[in-house]
Amino acid sequence: MVHAIDWIEDDGGAAVRIIDQTVLPQEEVHLDLRTVDALVDAIQRLAVRGAPALGAAGGFGVALAERQGAREDWSPAELDAAIERVALARPTAVNLEWGARRVDAVRRAGGDALAEARTIAAEDEAANRELSRHGADWLLARTGKSTLRAITHCNTGALATTAWGTAYGVLKELHQRGALELVYVDETRPLLQGTRLTSWELAQDGIPHVVQVDGAASSTILRGLVDFAVIGADRIAANGDSANKIGSVALALAAQRAGIPFLVAAPMSTVDVTLASGDLIEIEERDESEVLAVGGTAMSAPGVRGFNPAFDVTPHDLIGGIVTERGVVEPTRTQPAFPSH
Ligand code: MRU
Repeated sequence: MVHAIDWIEDDGGAAVRIIDQTVLPQEEVHLDLRTVDALVDAIQRLAVRGAPALGAAGGFGVALAERQGAREDWSPAELDAAIERVALARPTAVNLEWGARRVDAVRRAGGDALAEARTIAAEDEAANRELSRHGADWLLARTGKSTLRAITHCNTGALATTAWGTAYGVLKELHQRGALELVYVDETRPLLQGTRLTSWELAQDGIPHVVQVDGAASSTILRGLVDFAVIGADRIAANGDSANKIGSVALALAAQRAGIPFLVAAPMSTVDVTLASGDLIEIEERDESEVLAVGGTAMSAPGVRGFNPAFDVTPHDLIGGIVTERGVVEPTRTQPAFPSH
């Protein structure tokens, strides 16, 4: 299984090692990030991405800042500022700040930052495997079918996590049970996480799939070509409203109309009970050039402006189930979905 993020120590010292997701699947390049600047840059240009992987990046980022600070003789204030930059490098996935704050609390108490970051990574893999079993059970029970056709959006596999995957993990679990017929993969404009990353992972796992343009998603659902939709999440509010990659809400609307299950799969580290509802979730807006150009070539007339929200929020009443390592909650029936951690 591919590792999106690791900690290494070699002759050059300590580094956060990532697989550069901006060049996949054409090139498999590993980057060793040895400074906070390099890590923050990698997070912001999505070389490492996906909420749970960002949780690990936040955790390892604190250990990296600690090492760099010792090497460069930083003051305590400089170290705090560096950790803050890691925690806030991207705003929507709560896991990033959660991972950084959790490891920073251990560091401040005189504990082992690196060991805590490794624990976050290990816990994430265990949570993903557990939620995948719950999710597969729920889908088979809900649909009453023994083989299922799926639609998914963005990338939620090993690349987006520390291992196994979330929504992708549910698909993999169904595949291993012989219960998955075909996956419709949304390309996921503008950065093509579906085309480039999810289809790469599905091919490696031998899971039958087709890639479609994002605009096909609702029609694929309404034509009855799939039995369920499953997506990941970047932040889930206490009432179950779920932020995920832009385009997700279209699947939820169509799934409700078609009467098929719409499942959100995420570890508890993605649940933010400090926010009562999804309208409080900060949505990252990225540079307009990602929308207006394809592969570096401008597609629109000079001077045209772009709008590039990276995420949307699916209201909880459109969500059939939210599966975490603790099981499935059905936010349409349970209010609030997550009363406390
Ligand atoms: O902008 P990205 O690629 O970091 O967005 C990722 C997603 O939206 C994923 O679906 C989400 O983080 C869940 S990853 C298991």
